[in-house]
Amino acid sequence: MNKMKPLPFVIAAIAGAIACVTPVSKESSEAPPAEETQAGSSPYMTEIPDGYRDWRFISLAREEGTLDDIRVVLGNDTAIGAYRDDEQPFPEGTIIARLAYSYDESDENNATFGRKQSYVAGLPKNGLQFMVKDSVAYAESGGWGFGHFVDGEPADEAMMSTCFACHQAVAERDFVFTRYAP
Ligand code: HEC
Repeated sequence: MNKMKPLPFVIAAIAGAIACVTPVSKESSEAPPAEETQAGSSPYMTEIPDGYRDWRFISLAREEGTLDDIRVVLGNDTAIGAYRDDEQPFPEGTIIARLAYSYDESDENNATFGRKQSYVAGLPKNGLQFMVKDSVAYAESGGWGFGHFVDGEPADEAMMSTCFACHQAVAERDFVFTRYAP
């Protein structure tokens, strides 16, 4: 009879494990594997959004100094719609991406122009950044989840804690710096 006892215990243990994992999977559209539950409950984005490279153009910027890059800001359909309709705060599901590249002189283009004037995007640089609007998951940071990825991997807490702190400078524009380039 003793041999029967472990079975209910095992069932209870499995039910407990499921109960623990379930709330975490709500944070992401795809339920993370068990070993990633820590990341799933992160206050920051832990996964690169699908299809971001096909999103539409919002604007671009050039940074000098230590960043020394050229960067483009892209938005998913929700982001583009909100910009065009002047809808702020941005609606749930808005995602804005910032892709930065090294700012390279183009010998090829300069040779064609016959003088030094051309700069182009080189290799990706300074990480791949995102802001996603999810007011429930990211209530602590103005409803925005911040993401910074280097070679596909999310940045550490020390890096991530800087994002919202600085973006608070434009709290009146829903924490978004970039304006829509016509
Ligand atoms: C020192 C201030 C500062 C910090 C820290 C900072 N940002 Fe920004 N961020 C800016 C400014 C200014 C812009 C607009 C100009 C640009 O793109 O460089 C910007 C632009 C962005 C954009 C494009 C949307 C927008 O607001 O214009 C995203 C996405 C973004 N940052 C994400 C992040 C993430 C993720 C982090 C943390 C890893 C971060 N930022 C840290 C100042 C900051």
